[in-house]
Amino acid sequence: MFGLGGKSDTVGLDIGASSVKAVQLKQSRGNYELVRLGIAPLPPETIVDGVIMDSGTVISAINTVFSENQIKAKDVAVAVSGHSVIVKKIKMQKMKPEELQDAIAFEAEQYVPYAIEDVNLDFQILSPPEAEGNEMDVLLVAVKKDVINDYLSIISTAGLRTVVVDVDGFALENALELAHEPELDQVIALVNLGAAVMNINILVGGMSEFTRDSPLGGNRYTESIQKMLGLAYEQAEKLKLGEEVDGKTFNDAMPAIDMVHAELAGEIRRSFDFFRSSSHSETIHKAILSGGCARLPGLVEYLSENLEVPFEVADPLRKIKADPKKFDPEYLQVIAPQLAVSVGLALRQAGDK
Ligand SMILES: Nc1ncnc2c1ncn2[C@@H]1O[C@H](COP(=O)(O)OP(=O)(O)OP(=O)(O)O)[C@@H](O)[C@H]1O
Ligand SMILES: [Mg+2]
Repeated sequence: MFGLGGKSDTVGLDIGASSVKAVQLKQSRGNYELVRLGIAPLPPETIVDGVIMDSGTVISAINTVFSENQIKAKDVAVAVSGHSVIVKKIKMQKMKPEELQDAIAFEAEQYVPYAIEDVNLDFQILSPPEAEGNEMDVLLVAVKKDVINDYLSIISTAGLRTVVVDVDGFALENALELAHEPELDQVIALVNLGAAVMNINILVGGMSEFTRDSPLGGNRYTESIQKMLGLAYEQAEKLKLGEEVDGKTFNDAMPAIDMVHAELAGEIRRSFDFFRSSSHSETIHKAILSGGCARLPGLVEYLSENLEVPFEVADPLRKIKADPKKFDPEYLQVIAPQLAVSVGLALRQAGDK
């Protein structure tokens, strides 16, 4: 979205609620190769619902990721998510892109719950020019300016340049289209389950038909374990990741985890139902689960059964070569689902829309 000009060599920088992830790729003859990869954790409450609460901590995490992994490039592509981001497919009267540029702000007013002067607007015409009728489908994207400005200012304080500001759900689409080459006659749901936010993006014929961000993610599992077993947050997080805590094991956390599985399935079901009722497509053929929670034992099976849609774990690195002398293949395999957004951003080039 919002291309800001600049040169290539872009680093995909995913500033998530639980960690900062950086990915740099090299493209040669149509193939991609992993050049740099780094992750630095962020303490809880640093970012709340996509809004950066503690910029100093984020800046030092970015600096750590770049220095520890010898990332020299300065241009970054970032993404925003959460309630400050509105993505809607709308119908408008057919017009040329230049005319739409003027008309969009007026049109957007009815879809955006914020004052139009407080948001950055972008759009993409989805209908082919030869489509019949007087109307066309337009994808409208609005992001609160203060949120974008926070990201820009943090990145420049970290000594970097922002060349692309994207949206989590679209970065996801970018990465998983390369990796999983979805069949164009199929309906594919991309579900990214991070620490604080779940991004859903449903593709029909390779085009985004429905997107939604919900404030639900791995933190909810941790909180549920914390409450049910009377543990500190950090201990509950460890237990969730399979470590033993005070003689308690993952099995003891299962009832707390199952509760959140059910809540999560309900939330995804609401999105799927909404999609089915508002689109021509009834069937969702497949769902691809990414984000750190994709590694939760049993989640993919639970969702597949509960939602009656086959879920599989995303592998955004599938089509990206990585030198085993530089990157441990086992580590890459474990971490891959969590890299969907950062890989999608690394695939962007400055000036991309
Ligand atoms: N092996 C694992 N088992 C269960 N949960 C895991 C595992 N590894 C990571 N997680 C969880 O995944 C979440 C982090 O995922 P991710 O890195 O995708 O989120 P984020 O990008 O930091 O956050 P957000 O996208 O919500 O801003 C955390 O809640 C973490 O506890
Ligand atoms: Mg994330």
